[in-house]
Amino acid sequence: MRMAGLSEAFSLALALPLALALPVTGALASDEPKTESQSWTFTGPLGSFDNLQLQRGYRIYKDVCSGCHSMRLLSYRNLGEPGGPEFSPEEVEAIAAQAQITDGPNDKGEMFQRPGRPSDLFRSPYANDAVARSMNKGALPPDLSVMAKARQGGPDYIYSLLTGYAKPPAGFEMTPGMQYNAAFPGHQIAMPQPLFDGSIRYADGTAPTLDNYARDVSAFLMWAAEPKLEQRHQLGARVMAFLAVFAVILFIAKRTVWSGLHAKRRRKRAAPSTAA
Ligand code: HEC
Repeated sequence: MRMAGLSEAFSLALALPLALALPVTGALASDEPKTESQSWTFTGPLGSFDNLQLQRGYRIYKDVCSGCHSMRLLSYRNLGEPGGPEFSPEEVEAIAAQAQITDGPNDKGEMFQRPGRPSDLFRSPYANDAVARSMNKGALPPDLSVMAKARQGGPDYIYSLLTGYAKPPAGFEMTPGMQYNAAFPGHQIAMPQPLFDGSIRYADGTAPTLDNYARDVSAFLMWAAEPKLEQRHQLGARVMAFLAVFAVILFIAKRTVWSGLHAKRRRKRAAPSTAA
């Protein structure tokens, strides 16, 4: 009896939140955020990053996003590693040296500023989360190191978010200080639109459009979140090739083994009939 009571209470505890959640998800379904799928070089079993796209994406992060968003898991030397943006060692040195890093304490016990080195982690825009919030009307710009893996839709979502700013539809009530965004859940985001057509000049002649900026920085964030994607794809391809060859060898081996047994059985079957 006691057990039954317990399990009833348990199933009620499970069912209640479900029952409450269903009408909520039903209501959201009519107002779903829109994520636009893009074609990426890195999707598919053989996909790989376009290193020039990653270089452009890094510049956009550096020139625009890094004003508010940290990427604490990356260091400057990562920018020169194979499978990434693959900046040359000199470029990595120069990129790192542009950042002022707080180091120390020195002999007097004081912290000091020095130019960055390739081994340094990316410099964060704010000293701590409280400062970050106070500079962004209470909203915290999240760290972007693994953002492309943290949100459903990954790079498609980030692309859609960056291109999703629009006028709110008639009748949509906006909270003051928020922007309307078609891709953001709830459609009200505290991040002001960061990219506009023509706002950054590309050094390699790529058309300076919002569409290109959004795609390049999304690809860069995808690499940051999964820097070993290329190696993973290559290993997968090698495993598939090995399995294909192994299957052929197994097939030949099976034919060889069984051909002997078949012959033996045929001889056995033939023997009694000749005897009779
Ligand atoms: C002026 C500061 C500012 C700049 C510049 C900025 N952001 Fe943001 N960003 C924010 C804030 C604040 C939030 C939190 C928004 C919220 O929770 O409503 C945010 C949130 C985000 C999110 C998370 C959205 C989610 O699903 O929670 C992503 C992704 C993002 N920003 C990407 C970028 C990229 C990429 C750039 C550069 C092109 C950029 N941001 C530039 C302030 C900024």
